This record gives sequence, C-alpha cells and structure tokens, in this order.
Amino acid sequence: MSNYQPTPEDRFSFGLWTVGWRGHNTFGKAVRPQLDPVDVVWKLRELGAYGITFHDDDLLPPDSTPAERDAIIKRFTRALEESGMTVPMVTTDLFSHPVFRDGGFTSNSRDVRRYALRKVMRNIDRAAELGARTYVCWGGMDGAEYEPAKNISAALDRLREAFNILCEYVRSKGYNLRFALEPKPNEPRGDILLPTIGHAIAFINELDHPEMVGLNPEVGHEQMAGLNFTHGIAQALWHGKLFHIDLNGQRGIKYDQDLRFGAGDVRDAFFLVNLLESSGYDGPRHFDFKTPRTEDVDGVWEAARNCMRNYLIFKEKAEAFRADPEVREAMEAARVFELEQSTLAEGETLDDLLAEDINLDEVAQRGYHFERLDQLALDYLLGVR
Ligand code: GCO
Ligand code: MN
Ligand code: MN
Repeated sequence: MSNYQPTPEDRFSFGLWTVGWRGHNTFGKAVRPQLDPVDVVWKLRELGAYGITFHDDDLLPPDSTPAERDAIIKRFTRALEESGMTVPMVTTDLFSHPVFRDGGFTSNSRDVRRYALRKVMRNIDRAAELGARTYVCWGGMDGAEYEPAKNISAALDRLREAFNILCEYVRSKGYNLRFALEPKPNEPRGDILLPTIGHAIAFINELDHPEMVGLNPEVGHEQMAGLNFTHGIAQALWHGKLFHIDLNGQRGIKYDQDLRFGAGDVRDAFFLVNLLESSGYDGPRHFDFKTPRTEDVDGVWEAARNCMRNYLIFKEKAEAFRADPEVREAMEAARVFELEQSTLAEGETLDDLLAEDINLDEVAQRGYHFERLDQLALDYLLGVR
C-alpha cells in the first residue's frame, strides 16, 4: 500500500458541497468558480473515491423548473453510470433559504415545518432512485440564540414528530433507506438541538422506529465541544448506531474548521481509524471538509486527494501497531484485555462477591504501564517504528 492510492474498495466518498465550496464566508466573497457536478463525479473517480453525496440544492438549483430538474438528474445519472460512481448518501438543505432562519423541523412557524417535511420527502424519492442507503439529517438551523423565544421541550416534540413522519414515509414507500442524524453543538445557530452524539442517541430512543435512525457524527463537531471523537464513535458503535461518518479536521474548541482529514487532531485521527478499521464498520468513509479560501481549484483537489491519503496512512500505521507483538505484550501489561472479562463470573452469586476481600494495600501499589503502551502508538504515528 506504499503509494497510498485509494481504490473503490476503500469506500471513500465526498459531498458535492465539500469540493464544490466556493470559499464564501461571513467576511469574504466566493473565491472559486462553480464546479459542474458531472466534472466532480469524474474527478473524484479519477482520485479513487467510490461515492458522491449531495444536498438537494447542491445538485438542483432551488429556482429550477421541474423540466430543468429532470434534465440535471438525467445528466448526473448518466455520469454515475459511465464512471461507476455511487451515491451512498443524500441529504437536504434545510438551512440556506431565508425561510429556514429559525430552523426546519423545529421552526416556530408551522408552515415552515410543513414545507421542510415536504422538501425532505421529495428528496428522499430521489435518494431512493439513486440507490442511496443513508439519508443524513443535519439540523444546523434547528436551535436558538434567545432562551425565552424557543421552547426546547416543544422543539424536541416537533423533531420527534418529524422523524416519525419521515420513517413512516420511507416505510410506506418500501425504500431501503435509514436516517443518520448529524450532531453539532453550534454554528450557524448559537446553540443547536442534539448538540452531541450522546444527545442524539438518547433522542433516537424516543422515536417510533429507532431501528431506522442512527448517526452521522462529524470529527470536528464533537471536538468543537471539547469531546473525544473516538470515544463518541466507540459509543455509537456500541449502540449499533454508526450509520455513516463525516471525516475532517479540527484544531481545538473554535469555529467549525472543516479542515481536510488528518490536518486536525492527529492523535485522534490515528485512534479513530484504528477503531473504524478494527470494529467491522463497513459504511462509507465520507469526507466533509472545506478547503481554505487561500486555495484555487487545484488546491481543492490536492486537499481531497490528501483526505484519502491520510486515511490510508493512518490505516497502515494502525494495522502495524495492532500486529506488533511488543504492543500486544504492552497491552497485556496494561491489563487492557482484563477489561473484556465480565466482572462477575458465570454462575457467581452476589453473596460470593460480598464474601470476597481485596488486599487494598497491595492493589493500591499497582501501576498500569499505560505510558509505555501509549508511547508505542506515538512511535508508530511519528514514523520511527
Ligand atoms: C456543517 C455540516 C454539514 C452537514 C451537511 C449534511 O457543519 O456544515 O457538517 O456540512 O454535514 O449539511 O447535511
Ligand atoms: Mn462541519
Ligand atoms: Mn458534516
């Protein structure tokens, strides 16, 4: 794997809005030209990706006529067929249009909530037609800045209602599609509903069809809240809720940086790939990044290529780390495998447990040797082992 050249088997995918981001932000105008979605399909395939994802409005301009939409879809579908690229996931833009200024599913305005549901349902039909298996929902505008102006309990009722309706819609149509919620703590709203992986998992338990709804966690979003992303992914996997993932880079608790994968917290990226590759996760490795405004279009493709390259480098290093006999021995010494043993043995009673004693003086002396194990990982990461 020494040239780190991705292949479709690696299941790398990119959002049309990621490489297509023109660089506009709160302070500056667009710096790059609009890309043709068909060119993006071919370029991503050339780079080694297997999939492309999009929001309805990324592909179909909101002001386009039905005939124009049909023509765009036809041309896009032909490019997919000819290139062999897939659409593993589709999502909805419930944030750009001014009507969504107070949210989509949880806007205080009932007519906006009803419009948001129609917009999603129509795009679900397209997602199903294109063979997507995951429908991502990022409720970036579903939040608040003013405490007295948003009844959070009612907003959660409406959010639950929305997902119950959408699950029912998918069931009634017989689509093979699951929803993946994408948590984010803030930006663009001051505070967003379902701010973290944990909030979202708890919310899913309240739905009529929790089995149809999982998560699309994003590296930078958990890190914006100061949380350990790899731990969050481990818990999502533990609940069977990792349906999709947004890979990118973030450095610290600040605005959503959306750097290319690997350009943020390198340690976390290493342990994340180690976890994904050893957990049996078989979904897409989806990149949701934005190339900084300093770059021209060539820089965008450079960043896209390097998202995949970095993933493959981490994968190779993590595999070597796991296979290293010295690492295994250090894990034994660190009692890592002891945690896999149940605390009570089979058939043991609580009386057995109560009857047992521990030599506190002796056990209090126990060192855990985590330093040695962690340095072995760092040696791999730094390329000296
Ligand atoms: C962000 C989000 C979005 C979503 C996308 C999918 O912070 O901007 O990550 O990029 O992933 O809208 O619905
Ligand atoms: Mn983001
Ligand atoms: Mn995202």
